[in-house]
Amino acid sequence: MMDCEKIKKELLDDIRIFSEKLRGQKEVLVVSHHDADGITAAAILIDLFRFLDIDVESMISKQLDSKVVREIKNQGKTVVFSDMGSGQLMIIRENKLDYYIIDHHQPLKKDDRQVNPHFYGYDGGSDVSGAGMAYLVAKSLGRTDMAHLALVGAVGDMQDSQGKLESINRVILSDAVKQGSVKVKNDLRLFGRQSRPLHLMLAYASDPIIPGLTGNQQGCMQFIESLDINPRRDDNNFKSYVDLDINERKKLISALYMRLLDFNVPEYLIQGMVGEVYTLLAEEKRSELRDTKEYATLMNACGRQEKPEIGLRVCLGDRGLGWQQARELLQSHREMLRKGIEYLSNRGVEERKNLYYFKAGGDINERIIGVVAGMAYGARIIPPDKPILAFAEDREDPELMKVSARANWRLINKGIHLGNAMREVSKSLGGEGGGHDIAAGATIPKTEVDSFIELVDELLDKQLAGI
Ligand code: C5P
Ligand code: C5P
Ligand code: ZN
Repeated sequence: MMDCEKIKKELLDDIRIFSEKLRGQKEVLVVSHHDADGITAAAILIDLFRFLDIDVESMISKQLDSKVVREIKNQGKTVVFSDMGSGQLMIIRENKLDYYIIDHHQPLKKDDRQVNPHFYGYDGGSDVSGAGMAYLVAKSLGRTDMAHLALVGAVGDMQDSQGKLESINRVILSDAVKQGSVKVKNDLRLFGRQSRPLHLMLAYASDPIIPGLTGNQQGCMQFIESLDINPRRDDNNFKSYVDLDINERKKLISALYMRLLDFNVPEYLIQGMVGEVYTLLAEEKRSELRDTKEYATLMNACGRQEKPEIGLRVCLGDRGLGWQQARELLQSHREMLRKGIEYLSNRGVEERKNLYYFKAGGDINERIIGVVAGMAYGARIIPPDKPILAFAEDREDPELMKVSARANWRLINKGIHLGNAMREVSKSLGGEGGGHDIAAGATIPKTEVDSFIELVDELLDKQLAGI
């Protein structure tokens, strides 16, 4: 890598001061978010506290609201929040917790018990993930072994969606490359490049969907054979993409390009198909854990299927039972996502001036509704011209509705900030919300859904006008 990215000194100095306060703890509770970034952030911190001989327990939560904060308070422990907390600083303070916050979400205000890249001119949506911030804290305390997990977190938060990891993520990447744990390459980025038989990688492609191939296993097999690529290895098992040699890879990529162009798939979707891929060299070839994107999906599966502790075990080295259970969760997760996308393509979305939305009621689980909403662009269910809001029932509280919002880079460059929109509008209707410019969420009273859509639509008008 030819990069010479540096992290701003002010951020590193503040991380150092913050980290030293952690070193003095005897026992801590790590509280983190239930997605890939949150789980990897928690694993980096657990590894750090064990390294420092500090007793550590963990709790993974789908969100941090007043109720969860009160539950945490009842445990009476020093709490280290990761990948969450900055947006809930006031609730945390009101409840008088003994807290530390390591986050990358839009913060409310400065606090000497919090580290957050936004105060130094960084964008937590693209420059560094929650796991990346946890890694910087660990690094400042002398522990750098988990750099690869910080990359899994960043990829899990889709911070490579413009083709590669940049800024602070790039510095972490360079640490991992120097350690010999990660290799960087420009290559095909379809999901499953390590673990899936080639024809199934193509048949399950959703970002972008490939006309004539997605959903058509037999067609994929014919396509591979038409390129003179033997789909089987010498041992007769099916090849994965990573089994192809350089010429076969080139042939396959250009044939895919041609096909996407022939079917008028928009340029921005085609471009995303090739970019940097990050290979974790300590993991076995063809294992989901060898590719950061597959690893992240595995973690999302554990977290969003309510078994985050299994994800944590895998991050911390379990390649036995935990690993096996994680792969089972991945199967059911993929199946849930497939059904979610199918539901959405059959039902379609509603449209307002500045947004698309759909109400899934109880048909899509609130824990995966955000992922399904985000996939709607790649699956070409919606064009990229407006953000999408998705509503699902909160299974724990029938009075409440979960909202997930997703956008894309084009919209962010036009001034859209979903995190601000979710926070402001949900607050005005008696709910709670927040997140990044590109991906955000909220919980609101069920009775307010239509007002919510109305108000977000109006607020997006203002964001687009730069007001
Ligand atoms: O809380 P956290 O920052 O980890 O969550 C960000 C979420 O937004 C992740 O679940 C990530 O997959 C999602 N995301 C997305 N599309 C993007 C960027 C992030 O769906 N372009
Ligand atoms: O749940 P979902 O994947 O849609 O969340 C997207 C982003 O919005 C995450 O970064 C999450 O932390 C944030 N969010 C939030 N408050 C909520 C729900 C989600 O800050 N009530
Ligand atoms: Zn995150």
